[in-house]
Amino acid sequence: MSPDGFERPVWSVNGQHPGPLIQANKGDRLVINVTNHFDDPATVHWHGMFQHGTNWYDGVPGQTQCPIPNDVSLVYNFSTTDQHGTYWYHSHFFAQYVDGLRGSLVVHDPDDPYLNQYDFEYLVVLSDWHHNTTGVLLPLQDAPGYSGLRPIPDSPLISGLGRYNCTAAPPGSKCNSNQPLAVYNVKKNKKYRFRIINSSADGVFVFSIDQHKLKVIEADGIYLKPTIIKKLPVAVGQRYSVIVDANQPVGNYFIRGTLDKRCTPINNATINFNSAIDWNGLGILHYEGAINRPNSKEFDDDFTPCRDLDKKHLNPIKPITKYDGHVTDFVNITITFGRDKNQRLKALINNSSFVPQMNDPTVNKITRDIDAKDLPKDQNSVIFNHNGGIAEIYVKNNNGADHPFHMHGHVFAIMYVGEKGEVHDKSKYNKRNPVVRDTLTIPGNGFVVIRFITDNPGVWAFHCHIEWHVELGMVLGIIELQDTLKKETIPEDVVALCLEHDLQKRTTRRMLNSIVINEIRSFD
Ligand code: C2O
Ligand code: CU
Repeated sequence: MSPDGFERPVWSVNGQHPGPLIQANKGDRLVINVTNHFDDPATVHWHGMFQHGTNWYDGVPGQTQCPIPNDVSLVYNFSTTDQHGTYWYHSHFFAQYVDGLRGSLVVHDPDDPYLNQYDFEYLVVLSDWHHNTTGVLLPLQDAPGYSGLRPIPDSPLISGLGRYNCTAAPPGSKCNSNQPLAVYNVKKNKKYRFRIINSSADGVFVFSIDQHKLKVIEADGIYLKPTIIKKLPVAVGQRYSVIVDANQPVGNYFIRGTLDKRCTPINNATINFNSAIDWNGLGILHYEGAINRPNSKEFDDDFTPCRDLDKKHLNPIKPITKYDGHVTDFVNITITFGRDKNQRLKALINNSSFVPQMNDPTVNKITRDIDAKDLPKDQNSVIFNHNGGIAEIYVKNNNGADHPFHMHGHVFAIMYVGEKGEVHDKSKYNKRNPVVRDTLTIPGNGFVVIRFITDNPGVWAFHCHIEWHVELGMVLGIIELQDTLKKETIPEDVVALCLEHDLQKRTTRRMLNSIVINEIRSFD
C-alpha cells in the first residue's frame, strides 16, 4: 500500500489501513474473529475497553495471552457493558501496530447527552508513518551503543492518507507525490461530531480545522462539559470528540493534523534523522457546492505544546466523586532510561525493564496459582488485592522526555500533574472534580498522581504508549484481585495458543520479513 504515496508492505486489516471501523451500541457484545495471515504472530488489543471478566481477551502477549500464530484464528468475545465513546484497536505484538494493524472502535450511546447537538459524525484517525517496517527500525534502536532518540517518521497520516515529497525517496522505489488528501464532506449549517484518535507510534498531533472552532465533548470515553477551543493537542493513545458547526461561507477549508515537531526530539544519531517529512499533515473540509482551492489560514495556538489539553477543557459533564476517599493501596514508581551490560538502551521502571514472556502470559501463571509476589522481577508487577478499593499511583519521571501513559482495564482520575521542579504537594490534589481518562502525558522530569478503583480482576498493562519505549521495556503489569482471578477459567482456545506452536519458528519468520524490506530502503 502507499498511504503517503510511497509504496511499502503494510500489515493491513481486511486489506485496509487503518483497519475497518468496528461499531457497537452500549451494552452490545463484540465477537470478533481474528485470522492471522501476517506470517508473523499477532494479537489485537481493544484500547480503552475494560474487559471486565474477560482479561484474556485484552490482547497483550505475555500478559493476557500467547500470540496468535500465522494461519491461526482467535475469536475475541467481550461485552461493552456500560462503556461508550471513542476507542481503537491495535496489535500489541512488538511494534506491529506501527506497521498497520490499527483501526477505530466506536461504542455508540443511545443516551448520549449530545445526540441532538449534531447531525452526522466522522472519524479522524491520526498516525505517524514510517517507510521502513518496524522489523527494520526496532533492531536499529536495539543495537548496542545506539545513541539516537526515537525514530523520526516520514509522514503524518490523516485517516490513512498523507503526502510525501517523492524526490526524497530512494531510487527504484514506487512513489507518487500527488497522493489524494482525506476529504470530509459537509453541508452548510449542519453540525458534525468528529471523533479524533491518535494511533501513532510516537508523535503528538495537533488537530484543527481552519475557521471552524471545536466544541470538545468527549475524552477517552468520558463526556465533558463542553468548551470551545481552536486547536486540539492529542497524545498517542488519546481520543476526543468535538462538534464542528459548518456555519462558514461555502468553501474548502484545510483540516490540519500536524505532527508537533516541538515534542519530537532529534539528534544526528537518531534513526531517520534526515527524514523528508512534512510535519504539517493536511486534509480538506469540503462544503457541498464548493469549488475554490483551499487557501484558508491556520488558527494560532491556544494550548501548551507537548502537554495534554488543559484540564479546564476536561471537566466531566458531572463531577466524578468516587475517587475522593480512603486510599487502600499506594504505589511509587520511577521511570528513566539506562543501558544493559551490552550497552543496549533500556527503559527502567523502578530500575527494572519489562520483558514479556510471550509463551507463558501472566494471567496463565496466576490461574496456575502462582502468587503475584513470586512473578519474575522483569514482569514489573504491581499488586492490588483490595476489592473495590482506591489505588493511588505516583509516577515520577526521571527523564527529560514526556511519556503518554495508558492503563488497560480502567480509567483513572488525575489527582495532579507536576511539571519539572514542582514539589509533590498532596493538598493540591484535585479530588472533588478530577479529570478522568485512560491515557495521560507525564511531563519530562515531572510527575503525576492518579487513582483508580480496584474492581476489575485481571492483569493490566500500564505503559508508555510511545511504541519505541514499550519495546525498551517501559511497561508495568498491574495484578488486580488475584484471588478472584485465579478462580477463573481461561477459555480453552486461548490457552491452546500457548501449546501448539513453536515461538522460535515464529520469530525467525519475522526476521526474514525485515531482510526483504531492508532491500527496499536501507539506512546508513
Ligand atoms: Cu493502546 Cu497497551 O495499548
Ligand atoms: Cu515514553
